[in-house]
Amino acid sequence: MATKFINITLKIWRQKNKESKGALETYPLNNVSTDSSFLEMLDQLNEQLIQEQKAPVAFDHDCREGICGMCSLYINGRAHGPDTGTTTCQLHMRKFNDGETIYVEPWRSKAFPIVKDLVVDRSAFDRIQQAGGFVSINTSGKTMDANAIPIPKEKADSAFEAAACIGCGACVAACKNSSAMLFVGAKVSQYALLPQGRVEAKERVLNMVRQMDEEGFGNCTNTGACEVECPKGISIENIARMNREFLFAAAKSEK
Ligand code: SF4
Ligand code: FES
Repeated sequence: MATKFINITLKIWRQKNKESKGALETYPLNNVSTDSSFLEMLDQLNEQLIQEQKAPVAFDHDCREGICGMCSLYINGRAHGPDTGTTTCQLHMRKFNDGETIYVEPWRSKAFPIVKDLVVDRSAFDRIQQAGGFVSINTSGKTMDANAIPIPKEKADSAFEAAACIGCGACVAACKNSSAMLFVGAKVSQYALLPQGRVEAKERVLNMVRQMDEEGFGNCTNTGACEVECPKGISIENIARMNREFLFAAAKSEK
């Protein structure tokens, strides 16, 4: 596809800090290459703002190749923009038209407070992970080779698919209840499906769900918006698996 240059208008959420009141600000931006990524377009805007002696827009990013989950932006009312199965850093400006107005906002969720402009604090996800998203295996050198434990292919594939979650938070941002159950369901499932994860399965699901509730995320009402907006195609089957794991663990711990 031949490179084109387009002129766009950006409406971007600006907010000095967590306490201050934010607002959408308007920025015209010309000569944007359709080959540039959405984040490169924001880089171009920031160069323009710096030249105009204005404060650049703060936005999160790291890998810029769809694996770190940092580039959390709401674009034209959709988490990670108009493409499905795509993170913001993988979104290209060829998806937008010359003369278009593009709205860019941060994730909106009480559990993800805004730090500045488009940057939100997603440390709630870290705390959920710390509550149980790991396997306590001694890796001192005497561990059994993982390949020595036979695992049915179907289970290995499902565990791998759940492990593809990059912790971006789009599921929370897309959900009308700000539910984190797709994220937690993926993290619980990736271990629950494997023999190595079964050892601590009960404590894991109880602790991760407790932490999720303490962080202020909402509950799942099965609307499925999370699955639609997840850039890694995480299935809501993982939420059902987490619920089964939780009920089983809660019943066991009451005995
Ligand atoms: S489940 Fe999908 S949308 Fe939610 S954090 Fe993981 S990768 Fe992001
Ligand atoms: S910057 Fe890492 S996933 Fe987008």
